[in-house]
Order: sequence, then structure tokens, then C-alpha cells
Amino acid sequence: MNGSSEQYGEFKPVIVGFLCNWCAYAGADLAGTSRIQYPPNIRIIRVMCSGRVDPVFILEAFNNGADGVLVAGCHLPSDCHYLTGNVQTEKRTLLLKKMLIQLGIEPQRLRLEWISASEGDKFASVVTDMVAELKQIGPSPLKANTQVSTGNNKG
Ligand code: FES
Repeated sequence: MNGSSEQYGEFKPVIVGFLCNWCAYAGADLAGTSRIQYPPNIRIIRVMCSGRVDPVFILEAFNNGADGVLVAGCHLPSDCHYLTGNVQTEKRTLLLKKMLIQLGIEPQRLRLEWISASEGDKFASVVTDMVAELKQIGPSPLKANTQVSTGNNKG
């Protein structure tokens, strides 16, 4: 499904973000403590390693109404605190994107990023960019029947 943000009125994409504890989550935390502005559209789930993110978690997020899913972890090749979790995640994500196409979900709705604990600005720019891209693509095709709680989302 393609379309502009105007086509969907006040479409506010919901992003589920699986962030590894040691790098990406710390980067998100830094963005917050540094007061770096980014859209409030992301719901963060802290995991110990990006390699802990089972593909089922991602499919469940889409099935529950997420418009996009961000998986973020420690930089390749050697920053993962569990040695090869990030390498496994990269391989898995490539396969999962192919599966998403088969399910009618645009593969760009799933994004993998490497964000270190010192990259609060990168975390903010990834979220900002992802929200803009999802506004262009439009709501998830799975969203008609299910909704992720949007809380007090104003973004
Ligand atoms: S500990 Fe961060 S990706 Fe593995």
C-alpha cells in the first residue's frame, strides 16, 4: 500500500522499537537526557541483545497494529556484548523482510539499525526518519482490525 500522509489525514505511525540494553537503549536514554527532540511515535521494548528479538516478536508487533518495527543493537561487527547476536540479527532481518513481502507488508516497515550508547543523536534521527517514511507509506495493511495503544501520542 502506497500513499501520502495527506491521503491518511492525521495518520500517526506507531513504531515498536526493540532496543538492546547495552547500546541502542542507552543511546535512546542519552537522547532523552540530552533533550534531543524526536517524534513520540515509538514504543520502546528493552531487550538484552538484538539477537534476543525473535522474529515472532516482530510479527506479533505488526499483528497488533504497529506500522513499523525498529530493531536496534550494537554496531557490527564486534560491539555486541554477546559476541554474535548482532550478526545473527542482521541475517535474520534479511530473511524476515522477504517473509514480510509474502505477507503483504512493505519490507521498509522493518528497520535494523546499529546505535551505540553515545549516539543519542543517531537514535533521534532514525526515529524521525522512520516516522517520515511511514507517513509516506501509510498505515500498516494489518491495522484495520487491530490497534497498538497510542497513549497520549501527539506525533
Ligand atoms: S548486546 Fe547489543 S546487539 Fe547484542
